[in-house]
Amino acid sequence: MGTNDIVKFEALSPAEFFRRNREIAGFSNSTRAVYQTIRELVENSLDATETFKILPSIKIYIDYADQSRSWVSIYVEDNGIGIPGDEIPNVFGRVFYSSKYRIKQHRGIFGLGAKMVVLYAQSTTNTPILVRSAPLKSDVIYEYQLMIDITKNEPVIVSQRTLENKYGWHGTAIKVVLEGDWSKAKRRVEEYLRRTAMVAPYAEFVLRGPDEDDAIKIPRVTTKMPDPPEEGLPHPKSVDVELIKQLIQRDPNTPLLEFLVENFDGVGETIAKTFLDFVGLPPDMPVGKLVNDELVNFVTKMREFNGWRRPRADWLSPIGEDILAEGVKFVLRPRLYLQSLGSRVRTWVIHSLSRQRWLGVGLSSPVINRLSIGLLIRFR
Ligand SMILES: Nc1ncnc2c1ncn2[C@@H]1O[C@H](COP(=O)(O)OP(=O)(O)O)[C@@H](O)[C@H]1O
Ligand SMILES: [Mg+2]
Repeated sequence: MGTNDIVKFEALSPAEFFRRNREIAGFSNSTRAVYQTIRELVENSLDATETFKILPSIKIYIDYADQSRSWVSIYVEDNGIGIPGDEIPNVFGRVFYSSKYRIKQHRGIFGLGAKMVVLYAQSTTNTPILVRSAPLKSDVIYEYQLMIDITKNEPVIVSQRTLENKYGWHGTAIKVVLEGDWSKAKRRVEEYLRRTAMVAPYAEFVLRGPDEDDAIKIPRVTTKMPDPPEEGLPHPKSVDVELIKQLIQRDPNTPLLEFLVENFDGVGETIAKTFLDFVGLPPDMPVGKLVNDELVNFVTKMREFNGWRRPRADWLSPIGEDILAEGVKFVLRPRLYLQSLGSRVRTWVIHSLSRQRWLGVGLSSPVINRLSIGLLIRFR
């Protein structure tokens, strides 16, 4: 009897993995699913705007699609850079497909969020996602209805057409119908938008829910934006053998000196030469000649060498104190706002109208990162 008769072996596609384990990605129940859907779509919208210095205008419309079955439709539209037409199916239909696997600050990192939205929608309502997108200066708007072939982790194009882009629109609009509890998710969504507005006061948000009192409009309070992040290179101390192998494969004939200068953060010719001296390798040796143990040794030496420059932070885009201040002031409406200067830890104290006191601590100048504003503590 062969092993196959006793146990059955099979591969699990990434899409199937996340369909089975959707709670890992925040889609654990019908309330969380609504919140998480809006959040994933809004984060994508912010990435598609602020990273490219476009002042974000984001519209979110929620409606009951079929109240007897608690189906809600969620529509999110942005004025971002859009998505090239031929990328749209993969972007929404293939788990782990992204433009953000780079050393650059983004909200998205995994290439998963948009696909979770599609997976959840089709698992609960069996309806496709509707995507409309126009890249910058595009003459046409691409429209797709998409689902995912979960076993193959591939997009299924349900329909596709192009529309004339009469008004020069650019951006992305998405509509999805899923099983969800809007009334329970509402407060969380609103809170999320307010917090996001605090760290992105240059964005405007319109949220329109199905009920009359559901509308909120968060205006843009400043047109100042942080400088967009630049793409970074790996720091030479952070490498491992696999990364070096991948870089070598791109062009095995590159001389070692050039290889170091081109591929790593903060490495100039002088530093590269000093390092190669330290390892005992000639600068003009083609990098592809490093094999097996030599390669491991090269990587070990890269980590041991103390002559590298400190990592740069160009791939981050710190919000900066002034813009953060505008956001915090607008959203929390403090009576008193203090911003201490010149210390490593910056603090500000707010006496809000609701008679609660807030102490915010943003760690270390000059970077109060947009991704974490430090601590916001409520006290009496
Ligand atoms: N609103 C949008 N505007 C422009 N590009 C988008 C938008 N939504 C998604 N994308 C593209 O689709 C990719 C996949 O999105 P997603 O699945 O959420 O993963 P991630 O955001 O982690 O990359 C993004 O990397 C981006 O290139
Ligand atoms: Mg995302």
